Amino acid sequence: MPTVEIDGQRIQVEDGMTVIQAAERLGVEIPHYCWHPGLSISGNCRMCLVEIEKQPKLQIACNTRAADGMVVHTQSERTKAAQRAVLEFLLVNHPIDCPVCDQAGECKLQEYYMDYDRQRSRVPLADKVRKRKAVPIGPLVMLDQERCILCARCTRFVDEVTKTHELAIFERGNHCEVALAPGKTLDNPYAGNVIDICPVGALTSRDFRFRARVWYLQETRSVCGSCANGCNIEVFHREGRIFRFQPRYNPDVNQYWMCDAGRLSCHELQGESRLMEVLRRGDDRFAVAEWPAVLDATAAELRGAPAGGVAVVASARTPNEELYLLRRLAARVGATLSGVSWSPPDARGDDFLLKADKNPNTRGLRAMGLDPSDAIERLLATLESGKLKVLLLHRTDLVAWADGPRVRKALEQIPCVVVLDTHGSETAEYATVVLPIAAYTEIDGTFTNHAGRVQRLEVAVAPPGTARAGWQVLAELLGRFEDGLELPSAERVFAALASEIPAFAGLDYARVGAQGAPLADAAASSPGSR
Ligand code: SF4
Ligand code: SF4
Ligand code: FES
Repeated sequence: MPTVEIDGQRIQVEDGMTVIQAAERLGVEIPHYCWHPGLSISGNCRMCLVEIEKQPKLQIACNTRAADGMVVHTQSERTKAAQRAVLEFLLVNHPIDCPVCDQAGECKLQEYYMDYDRQRSRVPLADKVRKRKAVPIGPLVMLDQERCILCARCTRFVDEVTKTHELAIFERGNHCEVALAPGKTLDNPYAGNVIDICPVGALTSRDFRFRARVWYLQETRSVCGSCANGCNIEVFHREGRIFRFQPRYNPDVNQYWMCDAGRLSCHELQGESRLMEVLRRGDDRFAVAEWPAVLDATAAELRGAPAGGVAVVASARTPNEELYLLRRLAARVGATLSGVSWSPPDARGDDFLLKADKNPNTRGLRAMGLDPSDAIERLLATLESGKLKVLLLHRTDLVAWADGPRVRKALEQIPCVVVLDTHGSETAEYATVVLPIAAYTEIDGTFTNHAGRVQRLEVAVAPPGTARAGWQVLAELLGRFEDGLELPSAERVFAALASEIPAFAGLDYARVGAQGAPLADAAASSPGSR
């Protein structure tokens, strides 16, 4: 294991580690454009040049292995002169776009200019080479060739990660430019990642650009809920509105990436179809009701039903905490409990991140002892038995997921249908009461991904209207059956769950942390997704 010295600090690193990685470990910033830890080393931008003692020329830190006894200077006059020279070179043909560029606030060219350069340009504006601007190169990505610094991150991404080869660098010298390969469109399922890794405003998101300045946005850690992979994400939001999802690094789940479907799913979570009010069916229409009264009435229905007269249904879109409370409620009222995991018939996965299972918590459902295979068929038989008096549907749109006419007919026969959900649905139209609950970006909680990794959800925004966290609603309903029940937070619900369900034994929110932790039975197997 070599020991290197960087700016007077010594560190021992693993064999093969580069100077830029060793410096990062020490908390020393070496500016860089082309280097990205998820891609091969290209070494083209020269921004990471550093002075290394006994070496006649400056070396690029991204492609120089840390060697024993190496002494590196990232702040020396020679290093600083190189940084200024590289930035001047990169800015020779760069347009004066900053005030109108959507990358402002997260642009490495702006930031490094302020940190390492601050010289006036010696190139008159009129002499700059002009290239094409605002070219849509795919459904999600806009290209501005003038702003590109030719770092080749995007081309390496499509060559090495997706292997779809839509982008390439063409021409020579000043006229070098990134463009689509002949006949190609940047429309692979992971195309949006090039927006995140482009260090400048050359590749921007057609979905997000000009909707918000990034310095106004707050970030909250979460997990994508659009398939069983559970890619780690940052939710960017402002004043209760979500603006974008971006991938968050997790070496065991999604590395640096996420798919476009997951990226765009932020819009489905907030929209006009969200349920905003507690609704109770009157003579011929729904009327807005109050939470306590409706929970009292629901508890009375559950209490008054005969043996075998209550069914509780949870879907694999339900966080672990809510599944646990539903399980406990079902046991308390003597109800049958079913777990449904439904995906559209044309749902596909691949061998990278995307899973054909479009539910975030099928594994959690199984860990809780619920078997989703054939669950809908078994459930339909129960619904049609004529014995059900109360049906509680939790995040489950049965009319859309099963044989619609059969479900509608069966629902019409059940005297009390309680629907807890985030969005309005045809199923909700058959409800006796509709309880609006929070989407996963609005709650503390956990999902368990396909590999058995339990991962944390955190509150990014508040639920709309009078909607409340699902765990809170269920804890209050359960409290009407269990005297002295104290479950004031999702964390406490999880603690109760972990103490009762063997698969979750030993886990708590601290242990799950920002990167997740495996279920007891998944700990031995590799949780990696690729
Ligand atoms: S478009 Fe962006 S990521 Fe691609 S080469 Fe240019 S600067 Fe780099
Ligand atoms: S692969 Fe699945 S979990 Fe990951 S971003 Fe896409 S939909 Fe979300
Ligand atoms: S980051 Fe090292 S050469 Fe570009």
